[in-house]
Amino acid sequence: MNESPRQIGEFPDWESRYQNQPVTALPWFTTEPDGDLVRTLESRSITSGHFLDLGTGPGTQAAWLARRGFRVTGSDLARNAIAAAQDYCRQQKVQVELVVDDILATTLQGPFDQIFDRGCFHVLPPEHRARYVETLHRLLHPRGLLLLKCFHVLERTMEGGPYRFAPEEIARIFSSSFRVLESRESRFEGTLAHQPVALFTLLQPLETA
Ligand SMILES: C[S@@+](CC[C@H](N)C(=O)[O-])C[C@H]1O[C@@H](n2cnc3c(N)ncnc32)[C@H](O)[C@@H]1O
Repeated sequence: MNESPRQIGEFPDWESRYQNQPVTALPWFTTEPDGDLVRTLESRSITSGHFLDLGTGPGTQAAWLARRGFRVTGSDLARNAIAAAQDYCRQQKVQVELVVDDILATTLQGPFDQIFDRGCFHVLPPEHRARYVETLHRLLHPRGLLLLKCFHVLERTMEGGPYRFAPEEIARIFSSSFRVLESRESRFEGTLAHQPVALFTLLQPLETA
């Protein structure tokens, strides 16, 4: 079976995606902590705060953060993803607040000290990006950080799948409300033989949006 939709930005319904196969077979599944997340925490000596793992999926990154001592909320549009994340966090014996929530019509309150988005923004339709940016600015603490990981424009081996971004495009999309602190080419770890080329961006809210 071909895992990827053929057109960029066309996705199967997320509920079915989590219902129709074990989460361990999903392309983004990994029990290892994301390399860019780890590097950011270490390089900036971040050891505490309330993290939102946005689009938490199977909850592996949320569980890792909780084990590191962070207070963690994990949110996802798909009820089946949250059910899988609850199972995973129970097995791992970690406490994570897991909620079904569409970030484009969110009921989350914040403020969060850090928001980690590993693969949610890059699946959103382009017409909703401005709402995403406004929402994240509202949810983040004024001195908080947004850790954003999406597909890089250099990712060309995968047919279809998430939208791809260049560093200057991310800077432009977020420019009304965020400044870019760091931007680097990276990889999306998961179950695929070829790890897709990723763009990791660290952003800080502007005081006034
Ligand atoms: C590529 S997966 C990444 C999952 C997880 N972050 C990880 O790294 O394992 C993208 C996730 O975003 C979720 N998602 C898609 N649109 C969303 C939305 N509007 N609000 C919240 N979550 C959404 C999907 O259900 C899916 O679990």
